[in-house]
Amino acid sequence: MPFSGENSPLTPSRRTVLASGAALGAAAAVGTALPLTASAAQGAGNPSAGEVFTLGVASGDPDPYSVVLWTRLAPNPLAEDGLGGMRGTVEVEWEIARDERFSRIVRRGRERTDADAGYAVHAEVAGLAPGTEYFYRFRTGRHLSPAGRTRTAPAFGVVGSGLAMSFASCSQYEHGYFTAYHHLAADEPDLVLHLGDYIYEYKADSYVSPTGNVRDHSGPETETLANYRQRHAQYRTDADLQAAHAVAPWLVVPDDHEVDNNWAGDVYEKPEIPQPNFIERRANAFRALYENMPLRRRSKPSGSHMRLYRTVRWGALANFHMLDTRQYRDDQACDDGWKVCADAADPARTLTGDEQEAWLIEQFRRSRARWDVLGQQVFFARRVNASGATSMDSWDGYRGSQERITEGWLDAGVRNPVVLTGDVHTHWANELKANYADPDSEVVGTELVTTSITSGGNGADSDPNDDNNLKLNPHIKFRNNQRGYVRTKITRDEFRADFRVLDKVTEPGHPARTRASFVIADRNPGLTEVTPR
Ligand SMILES: [Fe+2]
Repeated sequence: MPFSGENSPLTPSRRTVLASGAALGAAAAVGTALPLTASAAQGAGNPSAGEVFTLGVASGDPDPYSVVLWTRLAPNPLAEDGLGGMRGTVEVEWEIARDERFSRIVRRGRERTDADAGYAVHAEVAGLAPGTEYFYRFRTGRHLSPAGRTRTAPAFGVVGSGLAMSFASCSQYEHGYFTAYHHLAADEPDLVLHLGDYIYEYKADSYVSPTGNVRDHSGPETETLANYRQRHAQYRTDADLQAAHAVAPWLVVPDDHEVDNNWAGDVYEKPEIPQPNFIERRANAFRALYENMPLRRRSKPSGSHMRLYRTVRWGALANFHMLDTRQYRDDQACDDGWKVCADAADPARTLTGDEQEAWLIEQFRRSRARWDVLGQQVFFARRVNASGATSMDSWDGYRGSQERITEGWLDAGVRNPVVLTGDVHTHWANELKANYADPDSEVVGTELVTTSITSGGNGADSDPNDDNNLKLNPHIKFRNNQRGYVRTKITRDEFRADFRVLDKVTEPGHPARTRASFVIADRNPGLTEVTPR
């Protein structure tokens, strides 16, 4: 039975289901009146006043038997107190079904949420079947949420028929429309990875793209809990982003902008501009991040710490080792930026922290998967510019870490190491070498770097024959400076990547196309370019 009182099933087309919210008609259901604030109830110029599921739904971190379902109530999403126009304690029901009409419901339950939880709901639903598609939705009072689609991981040991996974990063709301998220959703992947810079911390107009900003951040540069909650809510009002969350479970890891540009451990962006409360700021950012992401309770922050690194297993096909390369890193060497810097090679320096590194190498040792995938933030491959400098913010600035992970693959005999990366706002495809200084060194793994959803504005296509990055770094096989995402298909025999691009993000509705496609074959690290599709 669907939620009691409901008298009309959702529309039959999945695409329509995922795109549309649904508030039940007043006559259709009775329920507890929501404790809306006066300003939210009156609307005050807010077109969505009265609806509470304005931020959509999401799911994440599936295993074979369970998944996290998420929503957050906000009749007035941009409220400056970060509470979205809510007050008091609210009960929210959820249900999960095998079909999009919700005629075969397999589990239902209820959660309470309040101001302390930022009016977020995280339901960890257990007792599901492995490798199965589900549909879910929430209800509170007379309000029914849009429906989302999710999926459990295959059972342990099962390789399965393949996984459609897309990954994305860097969605600066002001720099463009989230059309790339729309296309990502339209592909209907089984799984989505987001590798950070999901929100940006800046106040309106302080980070302007070369092609101009198309919309403004609400609120000041994010520092307080209310600021971060408001910023997440603003991003989540975007229909394309909601569609991308509703289409598949996500595995998320933050990068720097969820807190502060280029922060490192306890060190904030610019020490010359003091931030006496940076640890408090980090705690605020983490708390809002947890509230707004479909993360399991084990990721719930404790003060300014948050356990984000984890492995999500997709049967015996793939392990997704999701990394946190911000919280435990040493400060950037030689004052950050692009440098020729001897300190970068100091083996005592770490990007992951000792504990995460030991954990990851143990994961490699225990892996029986076809593909061991790192879902992480910053550029892994060596990348030198014409002056021989490298980026101090990426793995090149922490060469000891770069080498220890590479050796970890080799020592453990990892069958197929693949690194997925965000951060740099450009697409790249890289072969990973045992030793970058030796041109004959063997290829030991592969890195796929996704461009941004919007950050940096429209960008432009480029001629590979005219690209210094490729000339100076022969292990780098592809680079493109347009916006988009990477769509992959992972099977027992190959890992295929389609680099998706859009001509423009400063106008809504532009189509996406595949700029280049590459295949990594099983037990054969490195890239083969294939016909785009
Ligand atoms: Fe970014």
